[in-house]
Amino acid sequence: MRAVLCKEFGPPTSADRVTIEDIPAPVPKPDEVVVSVKAAGISFPDVLLLQNKYQYTPALPFTPGSELSGIVKSVGMEVKGYKPGDAVIGKNKGCCAEEVAVPASKLWHLPAGVDFNAAAGFSGNYATSYYALRQRANLQPGETLLVLGASGGVGLAAVDLGRMMGARVIACASTAAKLAACKQAGADELINYEIEDIHVRAMELTGGKGVDVIYDPVGDRFAEPAARSMGWNGRYLIVGFAAGAIPKISFMLPFEKRCALMGVWSGGYTQRFPRESYDNITELVAMLAVGKIRPHISGIYPLENISEAFRALANREVIGKVVITTGK
Ligand SMILES: NC(=O)c1ccc[n+]([C@@H]2O[C@H](COP(=O)([O-])OP(=O)(O)OC[C@H]3O[C@@H](n4cnc5c(N)ncnc54)[C@H](OP(=O)(O)O)[C@@H]3O)[C@@H](O)[C@H]2O)c1
Repeated sequence: MRAVLCKEFGPPTSADRVTIEDIPAPVPKPDEVVVSVKAAGISFPDVLLLQNKYQYTPALPFTPGSELSGIVKSVGMEVKGYKPGDAVIGKNKGCCAEEVAVPASKLWHLPAGVDFNAAAGFSGNYATSYYALRQRANLQPGETLLVLGASGGVGLAAVDLGRMMGARVIACASTAAKLAACKQAGADELINYEIEDIHVRAMELTGGKGVDVIYDPVGDRFAEPAARSMGWNGRYLIVGFAAGAIPKISFMLPFEKRCALMGVWSGGYTQRFPRESYDNITELVAMLAVGKIRPHISGIYPLENISEAFRALANREVIGKVVITTGK
């Protein structure tokens, strides 16, 4: 079976950063399910992994992609609840391959009527943003949610979830096209942070009160004006640093605003609270099935064109999600 392999760390935009090779098909361990992959999701953390800039160093060679959809091919002898032919959603390392062995504890049944591509590109981003808005910030209906990098993978999921949770969503992004996608996803207000001052606009939009919750996957120069726009009892969610630099914020700011800075690491939550984390995705799958959440896919690339997908991600061109299809 074919799999995408990264054999050497380096620039994610170089054509030879990953290769497609024939490798032996996986055989399920007792608690695993082998999935014949229809589609896999890749995201910005994969771009970081290719450069060895992520929180951990993967052993080489490795296969990128951390989410998939597909059809169960075979099951290990201890697995209950899944059988060959079942359509599934999975969350695992190494999903950009034609077949992947996934622990049954990281699988969900694909609801009838849900498209394989939408299902493949949804669990990672939505799990992160749901955990952030629900367990970390405890976002309430009627509160204001400001999202930086709002057209990106986790950002657009936060806009969609914020709308669904009844918040007033202010989306911040760098171009008119990206902001239009945020509007489409349910944002109430838009800030183009390349030409508008985040702080001035956020204070205008909240009548001087400030924002209740800020979702920040971007960091760098955007963080400080956003943090100054916090309201009393606000929650600032530190999700990632897509723009590169890690911001340094004065302790005076949360002291004066009486707001909280909150770290968000979805992977760490899953390690420490596997049951709660699994339940979050179960709830999200149910929402997906009835159209309560609406993941946006901006590009679908066949496995052999995966380098183009990585280039689009690295060059800040992606809106929502990119998905890799195997043709199976
Ligand atoms: N904490 C967690 O558990 C967790 C989970 C998943 C991801 N993350 C992190 O969250 C961040 C975003 O991930 P993502 O998958 O949403 O990425 P993405 O789809 O590439 O979106 C990132 C957004 O950041 C903005 N941005 C601003 N400056 C940028 C720059 N120099 N390079 C790239 N993007 C820039 C872009 O929007 P504009 O062009 O509109 O500015 C882009 O839409 C990453 O740092 C990732 O590692 C954290």
